[in-house]
Amino acid sequence: MNFTFRCPGCGYSTDKPTPDWKCPVCGRPLNIVSEKIPKRKSLMGEGNTPSVGVKRKGRKIFFKLEYLNPSGSFKDRGTAFTVNYFNVKKNCSSYIEDSSGNTGVSTAMYAAAMGKKAFIFSPKTIAESKAKLLSLLGATLKITETREEAYQEAVKMAREETDACYIGHMVNPVFNLGMSFIADEVIRDDGPGFTDVILPLASGTLLLGIYQGFLRLAEKNGQIPKLWAVQPTQVKYLRGKVKVVRDAEGPSDLADALVVKSPARLDEIVEAINRSGGGALIVNDDDMRRGVKALYSMGFIVEPSSAVVWAALEHLEKEELIGNKVLVPLTGSGLKYIGQIKL
Ligand SMILES: Cc1ncc(COP(=O)(O)O)c(C=O)c1O
Ligand SMILES: [Zn+2]
Repeated sequence: MNFTFRCPGCGYSTDKPTPDWKCPVCGRPLNIVSEKIPKRKSLMGEGNTPSVGVKRKGRKIFFKLEYLNPSGSFKDRGTAFTVNYFNVKKNCSSYIEDSSGNTGVSTAMYAAAMGKKAFIFSPKTIAESKAKLLSLLGATLKITETREEAYQEAVKMAREETDACYIGHMVNPVFNLGMSFIADEVIRDDGPGFTDVILPLASGTLLLGIYQGFLRLAEKNGQIPKLWAVQPTQVKYLRGKVKVVRDAEGPSDLADALVVKSPARLDEIVEAINRSGGGALIVNDDDMRRGVKALYSMGFIVEPSSAVVWAALEHLEKEELIGNKVLVPLTGSGLKYIGQIKL
């Protein structure tokens, strides 16, 4: 697990990441430059999630059940990879994370497993059930007004408490690398030739990780698939930057996990979507309710933020914008929402 980190802005380079994963000169999130990709080591059985192929309208759709990761979301991949890195590189007194919910729960779970304390900063919109889970896992939850404030507070603590370890999924390139193995798994399980990926987007760890994974494998397996990013109406940071093929109006309060107004890696997200030839789709609460119902009716127990992909899939099918082999990661477990969701 030896990485060299480099700033894509000014070229600053280091073998020891900064506590906030950002360039100390110009403030951009650091990237990994590394010839050799280390093997993924499982800590709690994360990864290698099932892929369920469904035939629809002449296409094969592969639903990757990321919600079956140990804490109920795909975030476990990035957290575990980061924890493994820290286990080799730094003696952490505790883990710090800012999160709308799922990365917090994931961090708290790995902290419990490693015998560490966890400090989680979350906006007041955090789902009640996720807050409860954090407390059951022994984490200290610090509530902030906004998602942005949660990030600022977590970074402040990470800079002050030098022996604490900041997971920092919004900025941490080790986290994204951990995510990239989704691409290896689907090609191993379902073969090459994926034409499209439809995925929810907030801070971009999933999108950038999957993009990185497919790029890495492109030499052997040909072209990379088109990336279709799905966002709720309350977040439209992709507008004007990528092709928006579906727009919606109205509230999107159900998408509590997707409210990141300005991701730290926005430029990279935009570049990945555009280079892949994909685009963005915007959805609202009605779309999410329909998505939850449709996915439940197929046996997929997902949370509303995860169900955004359904309206996107229907639209892309109707407009004939997708090819014949589509990957749809189902990101978060609906079991965290039972008792809370009203359809
Ligand atoms: C269930 C779920 N799906 C999708 C996302 C979006 O992922 P990312 O922040 O990597 O863009 C999140 C983020 O928290 C999430 O919790
Ligand atoms: Zn820099």
